[in-house]
Amino acid sequence: MSKNPQEHGQEYHYNKAKKEGYRARSAYKLIDLQNRFNIFKRSFYILDLGSAPGSWLQVAKKYAEDNIGRYKDQYYHRDHYKIMGVDTKNITPIEGIKVIKMDLTNPQFKNEIETYFNENQIDLIISDASINKSGNKFSDQSRQVNLCLEIIKLSKYLRVRGSLVVKLFQGADFDNFFKKMKETFVIVKSFKPRASNKKSNEIYLIGLKKK
Ligand SMILES: C[S@@+](CC[C@H](N)C(=O)[O-])C[C@H]1O[C@@H](n2cnc3c(N)ncnc32)[C@H](O)[C@@H]1O
Repeated sequence: MSKNPQEHGQEYHYNKAKKEGYRARSAYKLIDLQNRFNIFKRSFYILDLGSAPGSWLQVAKKYAEDNIGRYKDQYYHRDHYKIMGVDTKNITPIEGIKVIKMDLTNPQFKNEIETYFNENQIDLIISDASINKSGNKFSDQSRQVNLCLEIIKLSKYLRVRGSLVVKLFQGADFDNFFKKMKETFVIVKSFKPRASNKKSNEIYLIGLKKK
């Protein structure tokens, strides 16, 4: 029996990830986000939340490495990068990246951030973190929003004009969360990457230019 176009798309990204050495097909969601919003422009200090198995870390490392050579000018640049990933699950280590096994809502996590990055110096926070879905759309949505509210608080570690990407589920609290993002960022956009499963209600909010 022939596959429907959605299954076809998922299989396509799965095979592509395998071929290109990415740990998950989610890698292409982040690449779509980059192609649309250029979030990695001059991003050297990067925090990735909900990182396991680690494909976003792999993508972030490529862009950060490129940036070292690309931006050798009088404007904001660095000669090194720092990337940290956190997850409650194990993340197989990646050379040059700090990985932590911890709940990102644990107050201890703030100490980890402060020790690894200098104060208010993170250029980009990316979060693909998602709660374990129970199947109840309403409670899942509100649990995810609660997680995202904790994530927004971490924006205090972003430098001025830094960016945040966060994954949300579409639903009742979406508009309120969008407004919350507007308190911290000059520009807020929502985006569904092509690589995202069309049947899933996941959507990414992108906060650009931290106030
Ligand atoms: C879709 S996966 C991330 C995939 C990852 N971006 C990649 O490309 O490999 C979502 C992850 O969020 C993590 N997560 C959810 N809540 C978390 C929390 N409170 N603290 C840390 N990690 C969390 C889950 O354990 C899960 O591994």
